[in-house]
Amino acid sequence: MTAEAGLPDTLRDLPAWTPGPVELADLELLLAGAYPPLAGFLGSFDTAAVTAGGRLADGTPWPVPVTLTVPKELTGHERVVLQDPEGVPLAVLEVTESWQDPVTQAWRLAGPLEALRAPAHGPFHSLRRRPAELVPAEGAVPAESPGGGGAPAPSGNVLAVATREPLHRKQLGQLRQVAERLGARVLVLPLLGGAHDDSLVRALLGVRRELPDGARIVPVPLPVRGSGAAQEERDVLLRAHVAAAYGATHLLAEAQLDGTAIPLVVPEPWAYDADVEVWRPVARIEPDHVQAELTARRLDELLDAGEPVPDWFTPPAVAAELALARPPKRSRGITVFFTGLSGSGKSTVARGLSDALIERGGRTVTLLDGDVVRRMLSAGLTFSRADRDLNIRRIGFVAAEITRHGGTAICAPIAPYAATRAEVRRMVSAVGDFILVHVATPLEECERRDRKGLYAKARAGLIPEFTGISDPYEAPGDADLTLDTSRLAPDEAVGRVLDLLVAGGWVRPE
Ligand code: ADX
Repeated sequence: MTAEAGLPDTLRDLPAWTPGPVELADLELLLAGAYPPLAGFLGSFDTAAVTAGGRLADGTPWPVPVTLTVPKELTGHERVVLQDPEGVPLAVLEVTESWQDPVTQAWRLAGPLEALRAPAHGPFHSLRRRPAELVPAEGAVPAESPGGGGAPAPSGNVLAVATREPLHRKQLGQLRQVAERLGARVLVLPLLGGAHDDSLVRALLGVRRELPDGARIVPVPLPVRGSGAAQEERDVLLRAHVAAAYGATHLLAEAQLDGTAIPLVVPEPWAYDADVEVWRPVARIEPDHVQAELTARRLDELLDAGEPVPDWFTPPAVAAELALARPPKRSRGITVFFTGLSGSGKSTVARGLSDALIERGGRTVTLLDGDVVRRMLSAGLTFSRADRDLNIRRIGFVAAEITRHGGTAICAPIAPYAATRAEVRRMVSAVGDFILVHVATPLEECERRDRKGLYAKARAGLIPEFTGISDPYEAPGDADLTLDTSRLAPDEAVGRVLDLLVAGGWVRPE
């Protein structure tokens, strides 16, 4: 690995590319040596073999396609610099194959990687370790590694827990029990890639004292790659590969699965005995055990209401992180996104809502009105589909930041395209709550009002691509509230939105 200097002269003229979040995580694990035997991004043969049968083309088991998607322009080069989102070069890809995915038609580059610099993005970077730093090379004297860690277990066993969730009292008890039975040291691998990575790591650091002696915590970037049962299986297989690379001999799991790189260990069921106030192993889970459990849904309800999470369920340090990651609704960030035709009344209702919330107090409000945004944030953009999408993405980006910080973003652009609105919903929902309000005032009414005289101009052909006249408006099928301002006075419309916010717990009743 070269020093942290600028890019060597020989690389300065190479094209550079910033991979997406999952690909960057893959890149980091490839460079760290946490994906053996992979040395780079997969080509078409390996990808086809992995997708079809969970094996590389040479028959080695490998669960997920580790691929790199690039724009077509990048496919003609022999070497490409891969950089992090801030433009810091991380590695050089020696391109051995440029190929097009037969299903998605996306262009891919394959080939081995030459590391330039250890990736340094993401929280808790100081805790990250390459497998080689944890697994002493054969014959080497084990050095006392930074970050703690005791003597190796006499059995040589290492039990890994690779998790995207905090460990509560039950899981901690199960972990201690399995570790003891195996005579294993414990390696906790918080899997990063979610919206609350920092909370996850802190929640695990916070229960360090409840972990068996000598347990280590090493965050690993391993984002979720999709949903569904098959994907979850592949995810467990990948966890086992990575845990094995980090020296684990066993992986704690919820269910058995064939063909894992290291054996999975499924703990015995545990239940909480309220009479003696302890968690303990039970022969099997009885109905009253289930009743006593805190379900995920009940836990969310407690957090939403700002009520304390009981101590019998999870240690206080974890409870505090749960509350930070899912704040009570009344102080949680929210985006109220109005969509509708020009002249439908979006701005009026949005402004009324903003005023009403400010008058009530307790929430900070940022209003991102369509016309105002176009004068500032999106100045210079046209009304082409591409520019409208960019405009809405910019609004979504800002709204998500406001929401992430616990604020209230009120947006009121036309936002005519369903796919782009869905993208904004996803961005915001990852960090807080999102409400879509369709201001469904009929076109005839908008055109009758024609306050800015734009409809007349559009009809006369003076404004091209005018929404509703010569450009499409895709009415939402996923609106949380629909308002028609030809039937509602502005105050009433604002009242409907406020009612929804009060009913949902975001705003206190008056
Ligand atoms: S969006 O499509 O990108 O969401 P946005 O809400 O920012 O649109 O801007 C819409 C406003 O721009 C309208 O209220 C209107 O005043 C003005 N406008 C100018 N040209 C057009 C057009 N071709 N289509 C729609 N609105 C237009």
